[in-house]
Amino acid sequence: VALQDPPATATLEQSNTQLKTQEVTILFGSETGNCQELAEDMSKKLEERNYEVTLSSMLEFKPRNLKKVENLLVFVATHGEGDPPEPGLSFFETLNSRKAPKLDGMQFSVLSLGDLSYEFFCQAGKDIDKRLEELGGERLHARVDCDVDFDEAAEEWFDGVLGILNDRAEGSSSDLATPPQLGQNGTSMQSEQLVYSRKNPFKAEILENLNLSGRGSNKENRHLELSLEDSNLEFEPGDSLGIYPENDPTLVDMLIEEMNWDSQELVSVNKQGDVRSLRDALIGNFEITVLTKPLLEKAAAFSANNELGQLLEEGREDDLRDYITGRDLLDLAKDFAPWEVPANQFITILRKLPARLYSIASSYKANPEEVHLTIGTVRYDAHGRDRTGVCSGQCAERAESGDYLPVYVHKNPNFKLPEDPDTPIIMIGPGTGAAPFRSFLEEREEIGAEGQTWFFFGEQYFMSDFLYQVEWQRWLKEGVLTRMDVAFSRDNEEKVYVQHRMLEKSQDLFHWLQEGAVVYVCGDEKYMASDVHDTLTTIIKQEGNMSDEEAVAYLEELKLQKRYQRDVY
Ligand code: 2AM
Repeated sequence: VALQDPPATATLEQSNTQLKTQEVTILFGSETGNCQELAEDMSKKLEERNYEVTLSSMLEFKPRNLKKVENLLVFVATHGEGDPPEPGLSFFETLNSRKAPKLDGMQFSVLSLGDLSYEFFCQAGKDIDKRLEELGGERLHARVDCDVDFDEAAEEWFDGVLGILNDRAEGSSSDLATPPQLGQNGTSMQSEQLVYSRKNPFKAEILENLNLSGRGSNKENRHLELSLEDSNLEFEPGDSLGIYPENDPTLVDMLIEEMNWDSQELVSVNKQGDVRSLRDALIGNFEITVLTKPLLEKAAAFSANNELGQLLEEGREDDLRDYITGRDLLDLAKDFAPWEVPANQFITILRKLPARLYSIASSYKANPEEVHLTIGTVRYDAHGRDRTGVCSGQCAERAESGDYLPVYVHKNPNFKLPEDPDTPIIMIGPGTGAAPFRSFLEEREEIGAEGQTWFFFGEQYFMSDFLYQVEWQRWLKEGVLTRMDVAFSRDNEEKVYVQHRMLEKSQDLFHWLQEGAVVYVCGDEKYMASDVHDTLTTIIKQEGNMSDEEAVAYLEELKLQKRYQRDVY
C-alpha cells in the first residue's frame, strides 16, 4: 500500500512534525482488569493515530492533574452495590469532595463496565459521568454502559469516540487523526492473530483432572492440569486463567424442548453472522443460567402469558428480585409459557457466555507449558432442581483428559510476588484461595528464593479437605515454606477460621509486617476477606499500640506500598 501511494505517506510524516499533537488522557479504574485491557487497547489505537496519550490507573492519578487535561477518556468498572472499583476509591472520593478541580471545557467520555444482573448496574460509570459534567466537563461522546459481554458495545464506543476526535482534528485542519497504516507487508495484522487472548482463546488440552476432596467431604475441589504447548502463552504467579465454558447439554435440550424449537435450526451467533445449530449455540455461545431484569423485559414481548408483564410492573421490584434469584432460562420458559417466538429471534436477547477466571495454581517456571487450576465445584439445589456452576460443573462432569478447553491468560498486576525474592510473604488462602499460593511456592522453590514464607490455610475437615497437603508438607520440610497454620473449621465443636489462627500468632505476625513482609489474601470476598481485613486491623492496633485510626492508616499505607494485596471473589 505504501509503495503505491507515496505522496500520502509523505504528507502524513511532514504534517506530524509540524502540527500540534492532540492530547488524550485515559484513566482506568479496573476491578478484574477488563477496564485496563480496554484502556490499553484504546491507548494503542490513539497512538497509532498519532495522539499524545497519557494512560494511567485511577490509583496513580492525582485528580488535580485533570485541570491540564484536554480530552479525558474514563474506563470504569462497578463493584458490589454500585461502588467504584477498589483502585478508584480515592479518585472518586476526591472528585466528589470540595477539593475537586474545576474542569471547564474539558472534553470527556466514559465507558463503564458492569453486570446487568446487579441492581446498581454500571453505577460507578454513571456517577463519574455526571460528576465530570458538574465540574464543567463537556461530553465528547455519550457514556456507554456495558454488560459482561462488553466487546461489541465497547467497540461501538471506540469507533464513536475515534470518529469524533478525528472530526475535531480535521476541523482544526490537523490530519493527526489519520487511521492507522498497516505495516508494509501487513505484519501488524498477522502478528495479532498469532497471539492468544481473551478474544482469541487457545484450545488447551486437559492433561489431568482430579478430585482433591476426599470421602466424607461436603465439597468437590478439583485439580486441573492443562497443556499450553505451542500456545506461546506464559504467566506469572498471581495471574488468572480465563476459561470459556459450555452450558450443560442436558439443560440446553430441556430448554429447546420446552420452547418447541428445532435443535438443528441454524442461528447466527454474532454480528459477523457466523452460524451454528441452535443446540451448539445454546451450549457454546449464549448465557442461559442467569436471569436479569432487562432480559425479562425483552422476553415479555415474546410471551403470551401476561404474568411476566405483571411481574415487571412498577412496585413489584422485590417480587422480581426474588424470582430472578437462582433461576435460569428453563425456569423462565416453563413459568411463562406459552411462547410465541422463533429461536433465532429469542437468542438475540441473550448475553454472550462470558469466560470464567480462575487463579492459577502453578508456576510457569516450575512447570513450563502447563497451567494448573484449583476449581471448587458449585452445586446447589434451588427452586426444586439441582443446579451446577456452568464452568465448574463442566470441569467436574464433562471434561476429561484429552478434551480441550478454550483459555487465555489474564494478567493480574495487583497480585504479584515481591520483586526481591528475599522479601518475606504472608499468604492467607482458605479453600480454593490456596491456589495462587501453590503457584507462589512453586516459583520460590524453582528460583531458589531465600525470603521467609508463612501460609494460613483453612477448610472444613482435615481428613477430606486438606488441599495439596503433601505439597505444603514437603515445602515445610525443605524450608520453602517457613511456617504454616491451618484452621479446620468443622473438626471441633467450635468453628476455627484462618483469622483465629492469625490472632493467636498476632505478635509474630506484626513482627513480620514490621520486617517488611507482604500480605496476600485470596478467596471468598464477602465473609472471609473482610473478616481477615478486620483481624489484620486488630492485630496492628494491638501489637503496634495504635489507635483505630492509626491502625487503619497503617493498613492503608501497606496497600499503597503494594504490601497488602488481595485476589478475592
Ligand atoms: P465453614 O464452611 O465451616 O463455615 C474454606 O471454605 C473454609 O473457609 C471453610 O473452613 C469455611 O468454614 C471457612 N470460612 C467460612 N466463612 C469464613 C469466614 N468468614 N472467614 C474465614 N473463613 C471462613
